Amino acid sequence: MGNIKTPIPKSQFWYTLLFLVSIQNKVLCNIYQVGDLDAWGIPTSSNPQIYTKWSKNHNLKIGDSLFFLYPPSQDSVIQVTGDSYNSCNLKDPILYMNNGNSLFNITKPGNFYFTSGVEGHCVKSQKLHISVYGNGSFVEDSPADGPAAPAPSYPTVFGAIPVTASASPLLEIPVLMFAVAAGIFMSVIVI
Ligand SMILES: *[C@@H]1O[C@H](CO)[C@@H](O)[C@H](O)[C@H]1NC(C)=O
Ligand SMILES: *[C@@H]1O[C@H](CO)[C@@H](O)[C@H](O)[C@H]1NC(C)=O
Repeated sequence: MGNIKTPIPKSQFWYTLLFLVSIQNKVLCNIYQVGDLDAWGIPTSSNPQIYTKWSKNHNLKIGDSLFFLYPPSQDSVIQVTGDSYNSCNLKDPILYMNNGNSLFNITKPGNFYFTSGVEGHCVKSQKLHISVYGNGSFVEDSPADGPAAPAPSYPTVFGAIPVTASASPLLEIPVLMFAVAAGIFMSVIVI
């Protein structure tokens, strides 16, 4: 009683900071719908390069997820090797998904190749190639692209998407911002 101005223990500050950073972490992980409003299917003749363009307009990073939306009875998503991607070889895919709303979680850097598991769709350009960088050399410059850039991106609702240490350089600025915010927050409590 009486001594309201108890100094906040240091550990509590770090817990708060950690908590805020983990919130920020989740916000930085996005789910991107492949093809945006056109979803996943054979490109229309008016937009045959839709997936190539889509890939160029999205800076995907570790922790993000690709969302493929399609009618489950008519289509599917397979992850394939670069060679299979180029030759439209549908045999021995790395991953096969056909539930109609498939999430591919990006957990490591590299090149990822996708196409439809349905015969004939790949040759009609229903294929997606993305590159994911795993280090700080990759700086987002998306605002220059205007609203067309990362259009429908939803904050991640799944808590369990792993964020690896290699993604941390991207977090440096938010961490600093939150350190300041946490400081203000703490001093409000103390006073
Ligand atoms: C991606 O993560 C979601 C949610 O954690 C999960 O439901 C889904 O099966 C994952 N996708 C793959 C291909 O593992
Ligand atoms: C980051 O990764 C890219 C692609 O993997 C590589 O080309 C680049 O040299 C790496 N940069 C650093 C600073 O490690």
